[in-house]
Amino acid sequence: MSRLIIISNRLPFSISKQKGEFVYTESVGGVATGISSLVEPKERLWFGWPGIPDDRLKSEDQLQLTSELNTRGCHPVFLSNKHIRDFYSGFSNRTIWPLFHYFSEFTVFDENHWKSYQTVNQLFCDEVVKQAAEDDIIWVHDYQLMLLPQMLRQRLPRAEIGFFLHIPFPSFELLRNLPWRDEILNGILGADLIGFHEYDYVRHFLSSVYRICGIEHQLSKLVIENRHIQVDAFPMGINYEKYANSREDPVIQKEIEQFKDNGTKIILSVDRLDYTKGILRRLEAYDWLLTNYPGYREKVSLVMVAVPSRTKVEQYALLREDIEKIVGRINGAYGTIDWTPVSYMYRSLPFEKISALYNKADVALITPLRDGMNLVAKEFVATQNQKAEQGILVLSEMAGAACELSEAIVINPYDKGAIVNAIKEALEMPQEERLRRNLLMQSRISRYTVSRWANDFIHSLEGVKRTQDDLATKPFTELFQQEVIKSYTNSDERLILLDYDGTLVSFAKLPEQAKPDNEILTLLESLCSNSKNDVVIISGRDKENLSEWLGHLPLNLVAEHGAFYRLKNEPWKTAVQSDGEWKDMIRPILELSVDRTPGSFIEEKRYALVWHFRRSEPDLAKLRTQELKDTLLMMAANLNIGVFEGNKIIEVKPISINKGQAVQLWLDKKDWPFIFCFGDDYTDEDMFSALPESAISCKIGAGPSKAKFRFGSPNELRDFLGELISR
Ligand code: UDP
Ligand code: G6P
Repeated sequence: MSRLIIISNRLPFSISKQKGEFVYTESVGGVATGISSLVEPKERLWFGWPGIPDDRLKSEDQLQLTSELNTRGCHPVFLSNKHIRDFYSGFSNRTIWPLFHYFSEFTVFDENHWKSYQTVNQLFCDEVVKQAAEDDIIWVHDYQLMLLPQMLRQRLPRAEIGFFLHIPFPSFELLRNLPWRDEILNGILGADLIGFHEYDYVRHFLSSVYRICGIEHQLSKLVIENRHIQVDAFPMGINYEKYANSREDPVIQKEIEQFKDNGTKIILSVDRLDYTKGILRRLEAYDWLLTNYPGYREKVSLVMVAVPSRTKVEQYALLREDIEKIVGRINGAYGTIDWTPVSYMYRSLPFEKISALYNKADVALITPLRDGMNLVAKEFVATQNQKAEQGILVLSEMAGAACELSEAIVINPYDKGAIVNAIKEALEMPQEERLRRNLLMQSRISRYTVSRWANDFIHSLEGVKRTQDDLATKPFTELFQQEVIKSYTNSDERLILLDYDGTLVSFAKLPEQAKPDNEILTLLESLCSNSKNDVVIISGRDKENLSEWLGHLPLNLVAEHGAFYRLKNEPWKTAVQSDGEWKDMIRPILELSVDRTPGSFIEEKRYALVWHFRRSEPDLAKLRTQELKDTLLMMAANLNIGVFEGNKIIEVKPISINKGQAVQLWLDKKDWPFIFCFGDDYTDEDMFSALPESAISCKIGAGPSKAKFRFGSPNELRDFLGELISR
């Protein structure tokens, strides 16, 4: 049975060495707590850093630790002090973390940190490759390992790789600041399935991939070389039952009983001590409440758990000082012998204690300035299940969890007044209303639990893999290549039909970048110089362009999908008798689109009009494309024209012009013993359909096709043409 390989920076246990013994503590944070509560039938192997620098470990320590961790289903990746400084505290937590949480003022760009990030990702890759089997499913987690999917893809090309980002994916406007944005995106794109907590993050990712890598998506699917990649939202859940039933656990009951009940209402705050969590503003709002609404003094108490986190990063150390100052100030200003306004704990609490706090609290105040998800919010709501005294949640709209917890009191965490009002509203809210809201939220989070989340992700990953396999059913295998070469050498009359863009040259971002290079010119020249070959280039480009680039070769040329053709060195001829009256009706419609879509333009061919929008703002272009297609399609039937959507273009032309009609000129000439035909996009499908059964048709790249075989890329085709020529 295939195993599930999980890879995250941190293992679910952090290890320290005390009195010569290794001590295992459960790691805190969404990734570790979430995935470790996963109930999965698959055998699992978890790779990650054990949280202790390897400089402190002798080699026998490492061996012992590895074998102890192996018994817990984990495999350690050891990091040196330098890596912890540059990769972990550096690039991960001084560059990516602040940038992706919209704290650009804290973001540091340091070349050495970046190098270390690359090295550590490679280190993880090497460790995984040593252990991974062919059929294992590999699931990479979070922002510390964004280069890993591509590194694994290079070493294990057939592997099933998923990637999940647990933090927000920022808008393109933020990501564009990152000097290594291309590498980061390409790293993630090594995965087959890319998951985020929310659809907004999916949108930002796809828009960055388009703007930075020039790759467009179709319904959140991307195609790179021959590989289909799916991008989707999977909001991470919790182990619902564990929290919903926590009150029945005697250990937790004991913890609850330890609270003195003096009638004070408890407002609870639980986070890692992190500037993204909005702890300072929360404290300021509480201060404001006590100052301006003195009636709440001695009636409420704020219990604040701040878990130590990334203490080597200066912002975290400074924040701790600021938090402790303000806690001291509030307690000094309002505290009495019997009442402490803020009970502050700077430590990590085990499940039993956190759970007792969730049970005891009247209000949970969770106000991050940005948060990928925030599991604490869900855990608190789950804990209110069938409780006599319901607690109510105040939640920031900037937390991913807010999408599913809309019945909480949702606030803007930058608005101090709104936090104060929300605390008041929560404290005053009647029990029935609390219950009503909690039931609605519980019914949602009890369905989409952490196991559902993980299973959903894994099933989707398997689905993507199946789609990839379906599309790759016709590879041009080594064996078949040999047969084609044999048949080519044995035939005296060979027809070779070749599309140009995306087939002979890779599809270029700008049309002029597709100019033929020396390699392809030499290949074509050699093909034509063999008198047994009749070579035809069939393109959508206009005849002027084809003449300029390929006119000097003794080739047959077809321009504008068949509107014009040129036999070897004869003059160009037209294949259609169309007066183009339709153009006068369509041109004003396209011109309107140009006026309303900056950067777009119209290309006028003799028998076609093309609206190009590759230089326009992508979202605007998408909207205009839809409007334009709707208008054009209404007119198409009457005018006998077709509307075709290509790569960032809309083309309008008479339906009688297509590549299938065009190749007929050569097919009708004779019974060719050998026909070879290559194309890459929808316009080439007409050509594939027109071929006799004996022809060998090949599609370049992924996607459904009527062609019999498939080549991965133009480069593969070039190599093969080179082979043919050498025979
Ligand atoms: N947590 C814990 N002990 C603590 C505080 C928090 O075990 O003292 C757990 C909490 O139950 C939750 C996780 O740490 O499962 C925090 O995840 P969250 O998504 O809220 O925030 P993150 O730390 O990932 O930013
Ligand atoms: C967040 C991140 C995790 C990280 C956790 C704790 O949840 O998404 O990847 O593990 O915080 O942070 P730490 O730096 O201690 O691993």
